[in-house]
Amino acid sequence: MDTKRMISGIKPSGHLTLGNYIGALQNFVKYQDDYEMFVFIANLHTITVPQDPSELRNNLEEAALLYLAAGLNPQKATIFLQSDVLEHTQLGHILACYSYLGELNRMTQYKDKVAKGETNHTVGFYTYPTLMAADILLYDAHFVPVGIDQKQHVELTRDIAERMNNRYNKELFLIPEPLLEEVGVKIYDLQEPTKKMSKSDISDKGCIYLMDTPKKARKKIMSAVTDSLDKIAYDPINQPGISNLIVIAASLKKVSIEAILLETQDLRYGEFKKYVADIVVDTLETIQNKYAEIKEQNILQEVLVDGANKARTIANKKLKEVQRTIGIEL
Ligand code: ADP
Ligand code: TRP
Repeated sequence: MDTKRMISGIKPSGHLTLGNYIGALQNFVKYQDDYEMFVFIANLHTITVPQDPSELRNNLEEAALLYLAAGLNPQKATIFLQSDVLEHTQLGHILACYSYLGELNRMTQYKDKVAKGETNHTVGFYTYPTLMAADILLYDAHFVPVGIDQKQHVELTRDIAERMNNRYNKELFLIPEPLLEEVGVKIYDLQEPTKKMSKSDISDKGCIYLMDTPKKARKKIMSAVTDSLDKIAYDPINQPGISNLIVIAASLKKVSIEAILLETQDLRYGEFKKYVADIVVDTLETIQNKYAEIKEQNILQEVLVDGANKARTIANKKLKEVQRTIGIEL
């Protein structure tokens, strides 16, 4: 049987958000039945910006538990910690030697920081995309399920892979494809609905965390910024707030935008927000109940050790092949 492979990760640089869930985690869960799924915690990517060690440890544990609580099944998916598979950094260095400064300068994540006038970014932050390319290429993954902000990194990964395949005249790497959902590739901040909902945000009023209490999450939805047009329509330009709430509802209910519109077209904004809040709270409660159960079972270490062992076998084979191909190993 020829099952296609998928890989993705989330960096535990804060508490995971509803954006992470809709753009990434929920899809990992969906695809684990039909693909050979590899999901890791991108802890090495997290330290590309300064972190407090004890906070990072907590975030890391929380993220891993949330993977399981959201429904990733260790019997189906290989779940591991990026730093447990040393091959990631080794290939990361090799790929950095096949990437150009010009390419990294064009990465939006880096360009945004430069545009904001930030000058104190680390070398690790700059080479973030080449490490990410290694994460993907080690596994010969066909698909990389991500939100829209990560698409550019997957495209760079493809460029590096093609370059090396051409250079050595063989299919050293499989060329991966970013996998983006039709709905929910970018969830917006509830207070500033033209900005991405992000765990790195300083103010948390516009951001729903997966571990927010239902009461808090409901309050955030009920105070989401809307408009004065007083109609429920999907129009991201003129009604970004309402459109964002429609997308949240559609993604969580796993139905189309049209289906949500049909159900909600006669509601006033207050009623519509309550409708969305009920869906969000229902999702959070399901995840949080499962989270408590899994934490109680104390299985996390075992899952991560098993996952790393499985991942390492594949990663090591690929790394050896690369090292032999480029001539650094006999
Ligand atoms: P953050 O911006 O919250 O730090 P990450 O960069 O760690 O998020 O992203 C982890 C995954 O979640 C990526 O696949 C990313 O595309 C997805 N993601 C993050 N925020 C959102 C969002 N607001 N909407 C949709 N997907 C998102
Ligand atoms: N850069 C991704 C993020 O910000 C995390 C990540 C690291 C990733 N390596 C990856 C995602 C490989 C997909 C594939 O969340």
